[in-house]
Amino acid sequence: MAKIVASVNVSHVPAIGAAWDNGKANDPYWKPIFSGFDFSKKWIADLKPDVILLVYNDHASAFDASIIPTFAIGCAAQFPPADEGWGPRPVPTVIGYPELASHLAQSLILDEFDMTIINEMDVDHGLTVPLTLMFGQPKEWPCRIIPLPVNVVQFPPPTGNRCWNLGRALKRAVEAWPEDLRVVVFGTGGMSHQLQGMRAGLINREWDTKFLDSLAGDAQWARQVPFIEYVRETGSEGIEMVMWLVSRGALEHKVKEVYRFYHVPCSNTALGHLILENA
Ligand code: DHB
Ligand code: FE
Repeated sequence: MAKIVASVNVSHVPAIGAAWDNGKANDPYWKPIFSGFDFSKKWIADLKPDVILLVYNDHASAFDASIIPTFAIGCAAQFPPADEGWGPRPVPTVIGYPELASHLAQSLILDEFDMTIINEMDVDHGLTVPLTLMFGQPKEWPCRIIPLPVNVVQFPPPTGNRCWNLGRALKRAVEAWPEDLRVVVFGTGGMSHQLQGMRAGLINREWDTKFLDSLAGDAQWARQVPFIEYVRETGSEGIEMVMWLVSRGALEHKVKEVYRFYHVPCSNTALGHLILENA
């Protein structure tokens, strides 16, 4: 059967993609950021996942105010990089897995998660920047990738506990797929960040650390953090961290922390990264 073996959680700051694409990865500002992924690149190259379930949020690239799915799943064969205003990033087109994605959609919907089925979608920095950090610049991404967009842009976002439960349902759905596949779930976005207004640039390292510690443990505390606490403690965009609860929920209850990286500043944000494996 297919099995979720690990989670990779990582911020998806778009300036990282721009720095990489414009050959600035070795600049003094960016080098410590990219170096923070040396271990991760080797770890994932050794693990060789067959499929990545990539939980991220669209930033008004594929969706806009006319349609805002809370939870969606990409069932297409391919997902091209989105044009976010400067042309599409020069990264490979994402190759999906329509058969598995359709199975997951069916399983999740019958398990009472009303996924929006997406058969055509461009993918923005929320999805492509984590791939750049983990894989650099290959000709093709090394495995199939199923995008799972979550709304954290328009109030109300789903609760952290709902995201955790989506992760549990994803785990059940993956384990009901007969093919032997090694699956890794990515949770992206975060950590502390507020991009605009009086509190722009807010960083709360203490709170971010508490969140990372909780995910590396039983996640009980992180699951019950209300929306307003994310906003108050980590800034208006800190709510992206609920997506890390989908990836945590998809693992076994007991996990092993494989790697952690936290760096400030990255653009206006705290960059966070946490790799967990089933214990
Ligand atoms: C920025 C945008 C994001 O979507 C994000 O998650 C982090 C940073 C930015 O524009 O700096
Ligand atoms: Fe974002």
